[in-house]
Amino acid sequence: MTAYIIGTGAYVPEQVVTNTALQEYVDTTDEWIVSRTGIKERRIAAPGESASMLGVEAARNALEDAGVPAQDVTHVLLGTFSPDAYIPATAYALRHHLGVPRGMAMDVSAACSGFLFALETARAILALHPEAIVLVVGSEVISSRLNWKDRSTCVLFGDGAGAVVVTSKPTSGSAEVVDVLLDGDGSLSELLVVRGGGSSAPLKLGEPVGDDFFVQMQGREIFKHAVRSMATITQSLLEKHGLKASDIDLVIPHQANIRIIESLASRLEIPMDKVFVNIEKYGNTSAASIPIALAEARREALIPPGSNVMLTAFGGGLNWAAALLRF
Ligand code: ACO
Repeated sequence: MTAYIIGTGAYVPEQVVTNTALQEYVDTTDEWIVSRTGIKERRIAAPGESASMLGVEAARNALEDAGVPAQDVTHVLLGTFSPDAYIPATAYALRHHLGVPRGMAMDVSAACSGFLFALETARAILALHPEAIVLVVGSEVISSRLNWKDRSTCVLFGDGAGAVVVTSKPTSGSAEVVDVLLDGDGSLSELLVVRGGGSSAPLKLGEPVGDDFFVQMQGREIFKHAVRSMATITQSLLEKHGLKASDIDLVIPHQANIRIIESLASRLEIPMDKVFVNIEKYGNTSAASIPIALAEARREALIPPGSNVMLTAFGGGLNWAAALLRF
C-alpha cells in the first residue's frame, strides 16, 4: 500500500505580533531576535481561538485543494502540544467543527514532530484500511502555554495550523509518501518540557500556576541535538532509498530557528536555495510548521512534478523525524 498526499492547506490567526511589540512584555530587541533566530513576526490567536478552531480552517483548505468533501473523511489525526483540553481529544473538536462528528479521531503528542508522527500513523491506518481518507493536521496555540515574562522562550513561538489529506489513490499533482522515519530519546526529555498540570506536577485547586505550567527549554542543548538528529535521520532516509543529498529538490525543515536550518543544510551539503524557509513570518509553530510550509511551497509553485521533497522535524521528547515525498 502506498500513501499519497492529495491536498494541502494552512491557516494562521489574523493578529501579527512583531518583535518590537514583544518589548512590551520582555527585555528584548528586534535585532537580537532576528540575528539569533531569523524571526521577524509571529501570529497570535485571538482570545477564545483554540487549536481545533485553527486546525479546522487548515483542514477545510486542504480538503478544498484535494477536492474531497468533508463528509468523506474517515480518520482525523492531529499533532499538537497545545490541545483545547485534556479531554476530549482536540481531534474530536476539530471533527465536530468540520461538520462530520462521527468516526475515528486522535491527538498525536510529539511536540514539534507531531505532524510527521501523525503522517506515519496515517500510513499505518491506510495499510489496514486502504479505502480510508485520512486528514492529518498540525495545529498549535502555543501562546496559551508561553511564559510572557521569559524572554528566552516567548519570542520564539507562534500560533497556526497546517493540514494534508492522505489516501491510497494518487491524483494529478499528488505526492507519494515514499517513506517516513521516526526516532527519539526519552532520556533527553528534560531539555524541553511543559510539566505543570500533568500527573507528575498536578495543579491544586486554589493554588496559582507556576513557571512549570509554561514551555521551559534549555535552548543551547536543544539547538545541538536538533541539528545532529535531523541531519542523521535525513541521511538515514536517503541511504535507505539509495539517494544522495543532491537528489533532493527541496528540504522543508521544521521552522524553529534559521541558524538550526542553516547548520542542518550545511551538514547535509544542501544549498540554502533548496531549503524552504518562512520562519520570519510565523516563528516556531511546532507541529504546524511543516504542513504550513508545505502548503506555502506548493502555493508558490516551488514543487514541480517529479520533485523529491524531504521533510524533517525535531521536538520535545526529544524526538525527530524525516519523510520523503515524491511529487
Ligand atoms: N532578547 C534579548 N536577549 C536574550 C533573549 C531575548 N529574547 N533571550 C535570551 N537572551 C540573552 C540571554 O539572557 C543571554 O544573556 P547573558 O549572556 O547575559 O546570560 C544571551 O541572550 C545569550 O543567550 P543564549 O541562550 O546563549 O543565546 P543563544 O545564542 O543560544 O540563542 C536560542 C538562544 C535562540 C533560544 C537558541 O539557543 C535556540 O534557538 N535554541 C533552539 C530552541 C528551539 O528550537 N526550541 C524549539 C524546540 S522544538 C519543540 O519541540 C517546541
